[in-house]
Amino acid sequence: MNSYNESIRLISGNANPELARAISTEMDLPLADASVGRFPDGEIDIKINDDVRGTDCFILQPTCPPVNENWIELLLLIDCLRRASAGRITAVMPYYGYARKDRKDEGRVPISAKVVANTLIRVGADRLLTLDMHAAQIQGFYDIPVDHLYAKPVLLEAINGLGIDDPVVVTPDVGGIKMARSYAKALGADLAIVDKRRISGSETTVEHMIGKVDGRNVIIVDDMISTGGSISQAAQVVRDHGAKQIVIAVSHGVFCGPALERLKACPADKILVTDTNPIQSDLLEKMEVVSVAGLLGTAIQNLHKSKSISSLFD
Ligand code: R5P
Repeated sequence: MNSYNESIRLISGNANPELARAISTEMDLPLADASVGRFPDGEIDIKINDDVRGTDCFILQPTCPPVNENWIELLLLIDCLRRASAGRITAVMPYYGYARKDRKDEGRVPISAKVVANTLIRVGADRLLTLDMHAAQIQGFYDIPVDHLYAKPVLLEAINGLGIDDPVVVTPDVGGIKMARSYAKALGADLAIVDKRRISGSETTVEHMIGKVDGRNVIIVDDMISTGGSISQAAQVVRDHGAKQIVIAVSHGVFCGPALERLKACPADKILVTDTNPIQSDLLEKMEVVSVAGLLGTAIQNLHKSKSISSLFD
């Protein structure tokens, strides 16, 4: 028997059912009985069969690919719970899609991250729980509480398990310095920077390598792998600069387009990735999937019991 009362519900959409089941197991709390299907024309058809009136509802729905499908499912689930008089609705988005456009960096482009925030609030979410957002400042687009978790404790445990001798932590671009520095600090390691420039959505080029990796073991950390361009190029650059063992650790494995081919071909010995996106663990031999289900389960439990979230950061 779990220690919850009748006042909490876990509801999953179709984005990452495996992670939802793992969270449910970690919390010893069954998923609510809900059907999230499709009408013949592809429109989303939802029915929640459990009573949710007055309950603390957590919708488990990362907006991973197919992003637009998962996003609309999330909005309709929120609307469904709102109309069913749920007490509080938390959108649990361990992977937060549409986070890359958080400002107008050229003329005539939308600020997609702002539209996502506006819509989520407008439809009725009371709270957002997310993990390693691509740009943490997106929290400022919300006038509801946002709890932002880090995959770092989970990935660090996996990194420590590899027993890497005297590593250097490398960021594949300058935007990732803060994240890399926090891993370096935790590991007591040096820091190096690959100076990447983006040419297009799937192509990048490297201008400089800052710091020394010659003869050293390297851990490349990043928030996400999308097409795999940034990380595979960074792995090649550190190898060209004399790195020995190369380990990649990323929070989100989005893996689209040429990602798998690039990862397979790149000189990394090991790729650690969490399960915020659905990933088959046998996708690549050198890949190891580490679960954030325990972290998310504890966070949900703490939110439900009004306990600290920042205690989960270390
Ligand atoms: C860039 O700012 C991000 O941290 C990732 O490095 C990037 O989004 C990964 O994209 P891709 O795998 O397509 O290079």
